[in-house]
Amino acid sequence: MKFHVMTLFPEMIENGLGTSILGRAAEKGVISYEAVNIRDYTLDKHGKVDDYPYGGGAGMLIRAQPVYDAYQAITASFEQKPRTIYLTPQGRTFDQKMAAELAKEKELVFVCGHYEGIDERVLEKIVTDYVSIGDYVLTGGELPVMVMIDAIARLIPGVLHNDVSAETETFHNDLLEYPQYTRPEEWQGKKVPEVLLSGNSKKINEWRLEQSIEKTKLHRPDLYAKYEQKQEIIKRLSKKKRQNIHMMELLHRGLGEVVYDKGMDIVLKFENLYMLHAEDVVSARELLMKVPTGAMVITTQEFVRDLLEKEFGKTGFCKCSQAVCTRKEALTVRYKDIRQLDITYLEYILEHYTSSEEHMKECLNAGVMYGAFDEDRIIGFIGMHSEGSMGMLFVEEEYRKKGIGASLESYLINLQISNGFTPYCHIIEGNEKSMALQEKLGLYVADTPLWWIW
Ligand code: ADE
Repeated sequence: MKFHVMTLFPEMIENGLGTSILGRAAEKGVISYEAVNIRDYTLDKHGKVDDYPYGGGAGMLIRAQPVYDAYQAITASFEQKPRTIYLTPQGRTFDQKMAAELAKEKELVFVCGHYEGIDERVLEKIVTDYVSIGDYVLTGGELPVMVMIDAIARLIPGVLHNDVSAETETFHNDLLEYPQYTRPEEWQGKKVPEVLLSGNSKKINEWRLEQSIEKTKLHRPDLYAKYEQKQEIIKRLSKKKRQNIHMMELLHRGLGEVVYDKGMDIVLKFENLYMLHAEDVVSARELLMKVPTGAMVITTQEFVRDLLEKEFGKTGFCKCSQAVCTRKEALTVRYKDIRQLDITYLEYILEHYTSSEEHMKECLNAGVMYGAFDEDRIIGFIGMHSEGSMGMLFVEEEYRKKGIGASLESYLINLQISNGFTPYCHIIEGNEKSMALQEKLGLYVADTPLWWIW
């Protein structure tokens, strides 16, 4: 990911981003950034970039010309128009969800305003997103840009050392983070909670969840209400866990948004994917009205599938079986050399697994692809689709029948169990080998099929 910041104060950006975690990530080449001085592009012979506003009023405005020329210089070599963010208190409020969405981009351009702002005409031409970091007015966009870059960069694999920590903290799953303690065990008469010294990870996790809930209730009742709604939906869906695990896990992992929720009429959304459960045909028809025309749908109900074909003109269907791993203890991983894959394996994966380049890039950038290695040669891989299901398993011909596929899947299962998730996968109809592997690993297969529909 490269961040390009257009500013009148490049040294502010360089000083702000050059140290600590982001500085190290930039040194390692995991992220990079450039601060582009808008003033370098002015055609004014005195180096001026601002002028009086037409119609009068207080203060000065940055003129369109230097901003546009700086933008052109940054983007000259880009294949497509980048997301270009203008920092303004009038924009959409920045939050964790926006950070996650922006973390998927390859290039991001930021425009920092100063004085009273920037000539509207150049903003109309280049800006794709107007973003505010909160309801207060700062003197310029530099501090907001640094806030945004910090929040976005730490979601990029390799920026933080511990790849699970970005997943389990504040705002993940709509809950605030639990309290943490370090040595000494007693400080100014205050003791570390007993349970944290017990070594019992189940008890520790339960205590942490309890604390998160209490803290969220107290400090952020708005977030807690969302959490509660999702928990209630999960409870209702859990009556048929094998059938509904895809919806339960989407909510449990804090990935999905609730579009509609009444009884067993439930619509969840994750990016362009809608998961739908309807009480009957009549309500299914109503629920499907809430799904945009081009969206992908997942359902386990045949009448929903039929409606989509007959009344909603869908033509793409992939029939699968859903399998769930309900165990709580880790599986044995026999093949030891398994490593997280980065974007340099994109070509290899596309050679061996049929999918869009876009999707595979997303999975690699999200740090959810794992490879098996023989010395330094990659010999197979597995991954997690962005909505949470395991898949994309591949092992080189000459390495098959050695349990490497089982090891890859067990490895991925263990990672999820240790994060408190329930692993699951979708087996495409007719893939007997995959079905046999799921049974061997002890996953339970739902007795209703599941359709991916587009
Ligand atoms: N520029 C000035 N104030 C701002 C804010 N609150 N958010 C983003 N950009 C700004």
